[in-house]
Amino acid sequence: MEFLLVLIYSIAFILLGIYLLLRKRYSYFAERGILHDKPDLIFGNFRKMRLSKPIFLVFREYYNKYKGKAKYVGFYLFLRSFIVILDLELIKNVLIKDFEYFPNRGTYYNEKDDPISASIMHLDYEKWRNMRVKLTPTFTSGKMKFMFPTVVDVATQLVEVMRDAHESGSFEMGIEFADLIARYAVDVIGSIAFGLNCNSLTNPEAEFKVMGIKGFRYRHNWFVHSFIVSYPDLARKLGMKFHFDDVGEFFLRIVRETVTYREKTGTQRKDFLNLLIDLKNSDTADPITMEQITAQAYVFFTAGFETSSCTMSFCLYELGLNQMVQNKLREEIMEVLARYEGKFTYEAMNEMKYMEKVLNETMRKYSIVAFTLRRAIKDYVIPNTNHVIEKGMDVVIPIDALHHDPELFPNPEEFNPERFSPSEVEKRNSMSYIPFGDGPHTCIGIRFSRLVIMIGLVMVLQNYRILPTKKTENPLQYNPKKYFMGSKNGIYLKTEKICGIVNE
Ligand code: HEM
Repeated sequence: MEFLLVLIYSIAFILLGIYLLLRKRYSYFAERGILHDKPDLIFGNFRKMRLSKPIFLVFREYYNKYKGKAKYVGFYLFLRSFIVILDLELIKNVLIKDFEYFPNRGTYYNEKDDPISASIMHLDYEKWRNMRVKLTPTFTSGKMKFMFPTVVDVATQLVEVMRDAHESGSFEMGIEFADLIARYAVDVIGSIAFGLNCNSLTNPEAEFKVMGIKGFRYRHNWFVHSFIVSYPDLARKLGMKFHFDDVGEFFLRIVRETVTYREKTGTQRKDFLNLLIDLKNSDTADPITMEQITAQAYVFFTAGFETSSCTMSFCLYELGLNQMVQNKLREEIMEVLARYEGKFTYEAMNEMKYMEKVLNETMRKYSIVAFTLRRAIKDYVIPNTNHVIEKGMDVVIPIDALHHDPELFPNPEEFNPERFSPSEVEKRNSMSYIPFGDGPHTCIGIRFSRLVIMIGLVMVLQNYRILPTKKTENPLQYNPKKYFMGSKNGIYLKTEKICGIVNE
C-alpha cells in the first residue's frame, strides 16, 4: 500500500514537473509581448497542421491573420519557438543585411552517423561556406550551357514516353502528370548529379527513383522525426539519423562505384559529379571526402527533383486550364525556334521571355518551398523595437504567404503571367517574390531548375497541346502530409498531338 502511494506521488510529481515545464515554454511569447496563437499544451501551434492541412496553408492563414497587426509573430512547434516574419524590410534584414546574425538554417544534420545529411542545405556556417564556395562554380551559366544537351536527351525520352502513351490511347483519358514529370526530373538529375542512366521514365520502379523518394518523402515514425526536429543537438549526440540506413548505403555505394569507375578509366563528363571528383582530387589542404561528395550529390537530388518536377507539373496544369496562355507560349516557342532554324539551343531558350513570365507566375502561385528558415547565432534586436530575437531562436520566412498576399499580388488565385512584366516587377518590393529564398543561402540550383523545366516545357509544348479532362481537379487539392507543396490526388491532363516529334 505504502509502495503504491509512493508510486502515485512520484508519477503526479513528474507530471506536474512536465506541466510546469510546458507552461513555462509556452509562455515565452506572452511574457515578451509578442503576438501569437494560444498554444495547445502538448503540440503548441502544431496540432492544426498534423490533423488537417498542409503546412504552407497553416503559415498562410497565420500570416493573413496577423499581417497589419504586427511585423513578426510567435509560433510554437512542440517545445520549439519560432518567430514568423511578416514584414518585407525585416525579411530583407534577416536574409541579407543582417546575415551575420542568421547565417544558419538550423536544420538537422549528422556528419558521423548519417553522412548524406551533411549537405550545404543543412551544414552550419563555417562548413557551409567552405562547401558553398567550392560548389558555386558548378552552377554558372557556362556549365548550364554545357549540360543543355544532356537535359534535352532526357526531355526527348519524355516526349517519346508521352507519344507511346498517346498512341496506346491512354492519354485520351488523361494521364497523371505529377508522376510522369517526376520521372523526367529523376532521370535528369540522376544523370547530371550521379552520372547514371536511371531509366525511371521507362521503368517507373527504377531503384534510383525508389531510393531517392524513400530518402526524401518517407521519414522515421512521427515521434522520432519530431524528436530530431525539436532537439537536434541531443539527437546528434544520440547518433540519430534522418535517413533510413538502406538509403544512405545505396547512395554511398553508387557514388563510390561511379567515382572509382571514372577514376580508373579516366572518364571525364561535364556534370556535377565530375566537378565534385575534381574537388576530391584537388591539392588543396582541404579536399572533399567520398561522404561529402555523396551528401552534395544527394542534396542536388533531394532539393532539385521534387521542386523542379512539381513546378513543371503545376505549370502544365495551369497551361491546361488557361489555353490562351498556352497558345501564346507555344507561339513564342515556335517563333524563337524559327529564328534559330529549328534548332533548340541554350541561347534560344534564353530568348523565351514569355516563358520566363509563365514560370515566375507558376512559382508564385505554387511556391513549392513554402517557407525557409534561419537560426539566430547571437541576440538580434529587431530594429526600432525593444524585442530581441534571441540566440538559438528559429525564424520562419513565409514565402508562400507573401506570394498569396492580395496587397502584393491582387487576386492571388488568378494565374496571370503579366504580373511579371518588367513594369509590374519594378513596382514591387524585391522581397515580395522570393521563390528561391534570398541572400547568401539562396537556392544554388536556380539556373539548373530553370534549365530542366524550360527544356521540358519546350519539348512537350511543341509536340502536344495540353488539355484538362473530367479528372482534372479545379481547384487542386493539396497533400497535407508532404513537406513541399504537392497535389493530393495527382494532376490529370490529356494531350492532343500538334506535329511530328522534334529532336528524335
Ligand atoms: C523550382 C525549383 C526550385 C525551387 C523553387 C527551390 C527553392 C529553394 C529555396 C526556397 C531554398 C532556400 C533558400 C533560402 O533559404 O534562402 C533553396 C535552397 C537550396 N536549393 Fe533549391 N529550389 C529549386 C531547385 C533546386 C535545384 C534544381 C537544386 C540543385 C541542383 C537546388 C538546390 C538547393 C540547395 C543546395 C539549397 C541550399 C542552398 C544553401 O543553403 O546554400 N534547388 N531552394
